[in-house]
Amino acid sequence: MRYRKLGSSDLEVSEISLGSWLTFSGGIEAEQTRACTEAAFDAGITLFDTANVYGRGASETAWGEILSKHPRSSYVLATKVFGQMSDDPADQGLSPEQVAKQIDASLARLQTDFVDLYQAHRFDVKVPIEDTVEALAKVVEQGKARYLGFSEWTPEQIQAAIDVAGPDLFVSSQPQYSMIWRSPESEVFPLCAANGISQIVWSPLAQGVLTGKYKPGEPIPEGSRFASDTMNVSKEQLMREPILQAVQRLIPVAEGAGLDLPTMALAWVLRRSELASAITGASRPEQVHSNAAASGVELSDDVISAIDNALGDIPVTETTLAPNAKAGVLHRA
Ligand SMILES: NC(=O)c1ccc[n+]([C@@H]2O[C@H](COP(=O)([O-])OP(=O)(O)OC[C@H]3O[C@@H](n4cnc5c(N)ncnc54)[C@H](OP(=O)(O)O)[C@@H]3O)[C@@H](O)[C@H]2O)c1
Repeated sequence: MRYRKLGSSDLEVSEISLGSWLTFSGGIEAEQTRACTEAAFDAGITLFDTANVYGRGASETAWGEILSKHPRSSYVLATKVFGQMSDDPADQGLSPEQVAKQIDASLARLQTDFVDLYQAHRFDVKVPIEDTVEALAKVVEQGKARYLGFSEWTPEQIQAAIDVAGPDLFVSSQPQYSMIWRSPESEVFPLCAANGISQIVWSPLAQGVLTGKYKPGEPIPEGSRFASDTMNVSKEQLMREPILQAVQRLIPVAEGAGLDLPTMALAWVLRRSELASAITGASRPEQVHSNAAASGVELSDDVISAIDNALGDIPVTETTLAPNAKAGVLHRA
């Protein structure tokens, strides 16, 4: 496993990291969660990414039990705040009160005194950025988080935060990024790079679609994410025929490069120096080992061109998890 520096922080993170969305909040059995997490340690993965809203605390609780058995200095723990945490619609967002309450709840579930990275899961368009920045900075001042990040903020929202807080307050950005979801390349990557902020990207395998296991016109394989009733988020956007056909055209490209498709898909995102890590998900420990082996795999320019040719101009529409770009408050009045 290779490691990269996370933005302007002093953290080194594994190029392949493990995330707990859908899977570890009950999508798979507790024993499998443990096995996948232990496989990550075995494979040299050091960055573990969760969020308060995953299973409304269930993912953090599951990892609290497992990770707390490992020395705290042996892993970099990242969580997030924003999502609705109870049936009360007011129990969400990035208001100072909510951030103060949610960090304490996350730390209790994670059985630790601090997280290494505390991320705003989305931009809160109801809260001025000055208040969001103050609330998050306070978490760091109190020693409850070492560093801050954001996820799926638009370029305008990122710039507003930098204007208010300077370039050093945030060290990471967490957008969706994969061979079939490239939108952050155009503005988010360069804006963050110019300000010393790394990308830690989510769903680099497009939730499993980029493994090639979903064949066009064939039944969804049993035991896979999109066969599940609880983990099939964004199924409509991702499981469309043109996408599945394009992915099948990638298989000979991967074979020609001597790789399997998931490895090629992960090496493809890691080719970008703006990335610190690709946050993978896993339902089985073998997947963790296999994905970890993508670290250090270099793709030639010919392979990268062949990937573009194979994919062509496939239509990728907005997923349900796109940035929170609704009109709202940006700055204090
Ligand atoms: N910030 C955000 O808004 C946001 C949003 C989403 C996710 N995330 C983060 O990103 C992490 C990863 O997201 P993701 O789980 O969608 O990532 P992903 O790596 O694109 O997809 C993971 C899924 O693909 C399948 N898979 C993985 N490796 C495989 C392999 N080698 N062979 C065959 N199948 C394989 C597994 O599903 P099956 O075996 O069940 O088919 C696995 O659960 C999350 O856990 C979370 O930490 C963040």
